[in-house]
Amino acid sequence: MSYWNDAGGIHILGGDLETMGNQANLSRAALPCQADVGGLIGQSAPMHLLNDLIGRVSRSTSPALLIGDTGTGKELVARAIHFGGLRCEKALVTVDCSALTPTLVESELFGHVKGAFTGADCSRQGLLQTAHEGTIFLDEIGELPTFLQAKFLRALQEKEIRPVGSTERIQIDVRVIAATNRDLEAGVRGGTFRQDLYFRLNVVQIRLPPLCERKVDIPLLVSHFLEKLSDPLQSVRTISDGALRRLMAYDWPGNVRELENAIECALVLSSGSVLTADDLASVPYGTSARNAPDRNELVPLEELERRAIANTLLETGGNKLSAARLLGIGKTTLYRKLRRYTQLPADRLRAERGPNGKQT
Ligand SMILES: Nc1ncnc2c1ncn2[C@@H]1O[C@H](COP(=O)(O)OP(=O)(O)OP(=O)(O)O)[C@@H](O)[C@H]1O
Ligand SMILES: [Mg+2]
Repeated sequence: MSYWNDAGGIHILGGDLETMGNQANLSRAALPCQADVGGLIGQSAPMHLLNDLIGRVSRSTSPALLIGDTGTGKELVARAIHFGGLRCEKALVTVDCSALTPTLVESELFGHVKGAFTGADCSRQGLLQTAHEGTIFLDEIGELPTFLQAKFLRALQEKEIRPVGSTERIQIDVRVIAATNRDLEAGVRGGTFRQDLYFRLNVVQIRLPPLCERKVDIPLLVSHFLEKLSDPLQSVRTISDGALRRLMAYDWPGNVRELENAIECALVLSSGSVLTADDLASVPYGTSARNAPDRNELVPLEELERRAIANTLLETGGNKLSAARLLGIGKTTLYRKLRRYTQLPADRLRAERGPNGKQT
């Protein structure tokens, strides 16, 4: 079974819907979803350590806290732990705490009985109950409203919940994985996150390395994304040395997600079978100290236009008509510009050639 409700920040993967009881009030915008087992690419030392840790954590049911910057793969790791562990046959319920409606969050997590509040015209099962015998993944846990943190802690400690408006307690057995890209300890110090809940969640802590600390994984990731994102009818399957050098020179503040988006954008812009540095319009020039651009460097107007088009295409998911509208130009103009940018003019070709005059 898979259930996906992005609007409410809730995903449920695996398990058996029939045995999960009444979920009648969960939004029914169910979309098919791939249950990704593992899928973490990387051969660097930090990735070896991470994979080893995931293996050991999967074999336990202790709470795990995933800490890492945006795009480092926290959700992938949560899935790897769940689907690689003892509970893989049961549900993985993902809750994005930052996307929950504040007035409904309590009922989302704990459920409610009919008549508990205005509009509660039937009982509803909470997500903690849906995750019974499985795993609940609380993404962006730092956003869990303060007023709910004590109730949530009690549920974890006593392994039971009380739906809103009910006097009955329901036994639950859930494995908790929480993730954050914020400094939870600072939240504890600042009084926005309960210390006792932090200790309860932080039993096994897993830190995800930022991509800039494992740049040796970039070629492998690129080849993975080329395989994943290439149009099967297109012949793009490789990348030039020059393009790879540019990817290696950048520090990727948005981590693997940003790299994935850059490859997707390059595939939209590229017309050849090899991605070149010119196709990487959305990738700023190297930001590591060694490669930092001169602050006074003037970027040619054409390059600015290329980047604007590339970023807009990324935003519209490759939809050229919407991109043209957003850019305030006609569709034909956009096509013409795209054609121009994806053809390598002589000066670009020269720039792309290495010192030995070979195309890189
Ligand atoms: N090691 C990896 N191998 C392959 N793909 C990865 C890896 N890490 C991340 N990704 C991909 O990068 C994208 C972002 O990953 P994910 O959503 O897990 O990041 P996150 O840490 O949860 O980010 P955020 O904090 O913004 O929610 C996804 O498309 C994911 O598949
Ligand atoms: Mg995430």
